[in-house]
Amino acid sequence: MPTIATPEQFRRAAALRAEIERHNHAYYVLDAPTIPDAEYDRLFEELRGLEREHPELLTADSPTQRVGGAPLDQFAPVRHAVPMLSIETETDTTPDGARAFDARVRKKLGLGPDDPEIDYAAELKFDGLAISLRYEDGVLVCGATRGDGETGEDVTQNVRTIGQIPLRLQADPPPAVLEVRGEVYMRRDDFERYNERQRAVGKAPLVNPRNGAAGSIRQLDPALTRQRPLSFFAYGVGEVRGFELPSTHGELLDALGDIGFPVCAERTVGCGAPTLVSFHASIAARRDTLPFDIDGVVYKVNRRDLQAQLGFRNRDPNWAVAHKYPAQERSTILRGIDIQVGRTGKLTPVAKLEPVFVGGVTVTNATLHNEDETRRKDVRIGDTVVVRRAGDVIPEVVGVDLSKRPSDPGPPFDLRAMLGGRCPVCGSAIAREEGEADWRCSGGLFCPAQRKQALLHFASRRAMDIEGLGDKLVDQLVDNAIVGTPADLYKLGVLALANLERMADKSAGNLVDAIEASKRTTLARFIFALGIRNVGEKTAKDLARHFGSIDALMAADEARLQQVPDVGPIVASSVAQFFAEPHNREVIEQLRAAGLTWEEGAPQETVAGRLAGKTFVLTGTLPVLTRDEAGALIEAAGGKVSGSVSKKTDFVVAGAEAGSKLDKAQRLGITILDEAGLRALLDSDTTGV
Ligand code: IVH
Repeated sequence: MPTIATPEQFRRAAALRAEIERHNHAYYVLDAPTIPDAEYDRLFEELRGLEREHPELLTADSPTQRVGGAPLDQFAPVRHAVPMLSIETETDTTPDGARAFDARVRKKLGLGPDDPEIDYAAELKFDGLAISLRYEDGVLVCGATRGDGETGEDVTQNVRTIGQIPLRLQADPPPAVLEVRGEVYMRRDDFERYNERQRAVGKAPLVNPRNGAAGSIRQLDPALTRQRPLSFFAYGVGEVRGFELPSTHGELLDALGDIGFPVCAERTVGCGAPTLVSFHASIAARRDTLPFDIDGVVYKVNRRDLQAQLGFRNRDPNWAVAHKYPAQERSTILRGIDIQVGRTGKLTPVAKLEPVFVGGVTVTNATLHNEDETRRKDVRIGDTVVVRRAGDVIPEVVGVDLSKRPSDPGPPFDLRAMLGGRCPVCGSAIAREEGEADWRCSGGLFCPAQRKQALLHFASRRAMDIEGLGDKLVDQLVDNAIVGTPADLYKLGVLALANLERMADKSAGNLVDAIEASKRTTLARFIFALGIRNVGEKTAKDLARHFGSIDALMAADEARLQQVPDVGPIVASSVAQFFAEPHNREVIEQLRAAGLTWEEGAPQETVAGRLAGKTFVLTGTLPVLTRDEAGALIEAAGGKVSGSVSKKTDFVVAGAEAGSKLDKAQRLGITILDEAGLRALLDSDTTGV
């Protein structure tokens, strides 16, 4: 018969919770452990024993709850009591960027040159995932992602597994409500250590710390999140009730530190643009030695009353700005050059480098683009080369430091001589056509490298969207001759897959389901998935819209193809060549026989719709729609979406963190819309222009 816990047991459980959380704070936040591990384990076990015996003793803020519960099917939506804002990015990466922000703030506040300087708080822009932590009566009750700023996902279980996040505030009495906002991130050393362990057990490593952090928080199974070494920094607040907020941002961060949150020490408060400029420079000098990646620095007006006065524009406060750094460049030694074979047989020279730390990651490979580029830069093996990496872009070799060239340099780069005129993967002849920059393997789908790339492209998110078909798996499927063409994918069963390396029954089942689900698609996706040379996503859409059916497209000759707007002789010839190949027609027939379906329509020579003839450029993050969704709505209404702003652009739809495209649109006097404006335009009877 279970008995109710005694008052003494209630008191003991509360004391244990408080003591364990004190040790957690000392260990995770202060990095100064206060007791030996064995002692900590003893306290933890005592608490767990009590809770097991008397479930009524269990509370939401118990440290035993950090292990998380059962896996979820999906995350529940959470509406933010106060929207989670984003920050505008200053695109000028020089000190002038900081001065421009100060000038904007002063202007908005109506200050003249003789008025005193503004106080600013400068801090780091952490590269992770924004999280809102809601505490009610001092207890963590909800952790949510930012989502679209209005509504995020409930990731409370996962957030609880992060040792640095307090389950209870160190405030007495606790505030009725306090939402603390900050960034979940992964330290570089934790990332490296985690990946080492993953590799040791033959599991896939994380791509970079930011993806690691973001992916971990969005795991449905908290047991997985718990294995990931995550950290947290607080940088602001959301809803606050029953808590006296300090009058400045700098003091607010201090206060958050006092009640148990990790707050980054790399920050400063000072007056005027000079404070910002010197912070930007001093962080630039130390960026590589920080224990985590940053995405720039953030400046905020320090006084909260001035923040309120400055207000917002769209989703961005006028009182804050993110200031980035130029792409990073580092020198290293070129050890060798490999040739990679792409989907369409393109041969790309890839530099094999002495590992070098640049832009937050260790780079060992960098693209040399093509033969002409490599020769133009006169890159030789043994040279000291300059490597650049910006954001998520593939690292590239930008040049050679000739002053460091060895006395016996390698010969000038000659791709054909290097390969003996043969594809390094399949041995077919290689060729470079007149006027083309690239050498290509002539093996077509006979070449395993091309076949693998073609399959990966076919399965990719914007094509057939088959989740779980990654490069390691495709390597095995092609190398073991299980899959030769995309049509073979639809013959795969769980059994064949489960026998492959690193394939558990469950993932095999999931993949078979994903393949099955991909059968319902659209004509545009299908055309894109075929991987026809020179046919990207946009051209695939144009072709689908123009011809309406795959048979009409296959029957079209080059002249007919060129009637499609934006299709010139090069694209027309690639498409015609592709369908002239009996093998390709056969694969299409097999795919249809396997049950692939899409809606076919009547050919549509001209596009009608309320946005017909209008060109849009999308930039920044919209509050509700993703950029793809907004683009789809525009195209469905007959409009065109382009990637760059020019005089021909009719509208720029700008969201949060819109950068240079917005600036350019303003310069050119192009109409700028926010998401609401776009919706109004879509819903209106005429475009009004
Ligand atoms: S403040 C007032 N401070 O940057 C604006 N954000 O575009 C609210 N971020 O999603 C954010 N470091 O995840 C702020 N020191 C910092 C930050 C920071 C990184 C991220 C945040 C947000 C994005 C804003």
